[in-house]
Amino acid sequence: MIAIKNEHELELMRQACKITAAARALAGEMVRPGVSTKAIDQAVHDFIVSQGAKPSFLNYSGYPASACISVNSTVIHGIPGHYTLKEGDIVSVDVGAYYKGFHGDCAATFACGAISTEAQKLIDVTKQSFFEGIAQATKGKRVQDISHAIQTYVESNGFSVVRSFVGHGVGRQLHEEPEVPNYGNPGRGPRLIPGMTIAVEPMVNVGTYDVRVLKDGWTTVTADGKLSAHYENTVLITDGEPEILTVTEGL
Ligand code: MF3
Ligand code: CO
Repeated sequence: MIAIKNEHELELMRQACKITAAARALAGEMVRPGVSTKAIDQAVHDFIVSQGAKPSFLNYSGYPASACISVNSTVIHGIPGHYTLKEGDIVSVDVGAYYKGFHGDCAATFACGAISTEAQKLIDVTKQSFFEGIAQATKGKRVQDISHAIQTYVESNGFSVVRSFVGHGVGRQLHEEPEVPNYGNPGRGPRLIPGMTIAVEPMVNVGTYDVRVLKDGWTTVTADGKLSAHYENTVLITDGEPEILTVTEGL
């Protein structure tokens, strides 16, 4: 069952998502050489709590932190720790906040100082692929119309989309139906209906789309050790244009 949110529920979703987006922005501002990933996680945690919200990821299936911080060839679910960022790193920060019964979920990849041309292209293509995807996120279309647009854009730029992790519905639960893959066929998958809220989150690799999970059970890295980037927003399907909920405007 795909949850359709009513206006009251959507107002609460907007609030949760604003806190989430502000946490992402704060993390992004901290990305610079010499900063530990643990320090960024602590700041994300403290900010979310200061807003009267809870970090969605903390203790989710045993996840030990508030943010996922995934550097260079780490795709997703990097566990913050003692690593200090260095010039040239690309740093994916994924955050979630739970507020008044609803979750927000968003991510972005940030440059640490000066980065390579290829790394910058990867970040730009990953972000733009999200917008290509949500251009299809209108009522009556189907989930894989989004997926296909993301895949087509990424592959036309010479990169690959991760297959084994996907976007998802988000709301009262962090992960709800439907799954929102970043690859697929037009006209397939569940139909999009106003009031659906989905996390659209392309994970894009420079090389192979294959990934592996390290022994900690979380850290997911590219199989070939090449770079990966991530971009995610929580998005509402409406009668017209999709509404990106994880925005900082008005906060
Ligand atoms: N944004 C990610 C997702 O949608 C983060 C989940 S991390 C976890 O799956 F720790 F909560 F699992
Ligand atoms: Co997500």
